[in-house]
Amino acid sequence: MTQRPPDAPAPPSDDARWKRIVATLRRLGHRPQSLIEGMHAVQNEFGYLEPAALRYLAELLVVPLAKVHGVATFYHHFTMRPPTRHTCVVCLGTVCHIKRGPAILAEIEKRYGVGAGATTADGSLSVVEARCIGACSLAPLVVLDGETIGPTTPEEVRERLDSCIAKTEGEPPRDA
Ligand code: FES
Repeated sequence: MTQRPPDAPAPPSDDARWKRIVATLRRLGHRPQSLIEGMHAVQNEFGYLEPAALRYLAELLVVPLAKVHGVATFYHHFTMRPPTRHTCVVCLGTVCHIKRGPAILAEIEKRYGVGAGATTADGSLSVVEARCIGACSLAPLVVLDGETIGPTTPEEVRERLDSCIAKTEGEPPRDA
């Protein structure tokens, strides 16, 4: 069995789940052909493939990072987004932007500590920025878990988010 070379990269963090992944990768022999199994191991532990995990696999298995990204995006089974309970899309297209769309995003960031493209650490909320979803007459708008809400205000969005997050507190996050 191929041993991990002494200059092999360290896992992205001290999280105990990495110990199990490292053990799996060691058992697989750190071969480039182990990439998909390694990605399965990471996703099974964390629920998704974060950028640092992909970089780690690329370095450890000596596979070009572009190829690792290619595999991650080719197979539907893999996801690079963290599991979340709620997704709020904030439109920042021209009309929504003029009508206080950025204020909605700022309110979400102030309340939950996450901006566009991020997910709260507890997996309760993912925030996504959009560039016009084609419903400008409702500007400014958000799409919360698939429901279009608009015209709306930063205060209303905060209240809606507070309400739906409170209802699902304790439930496991699901794939975004
Ligand atoms: S700019 Fe927001 S829906 Fe068109």
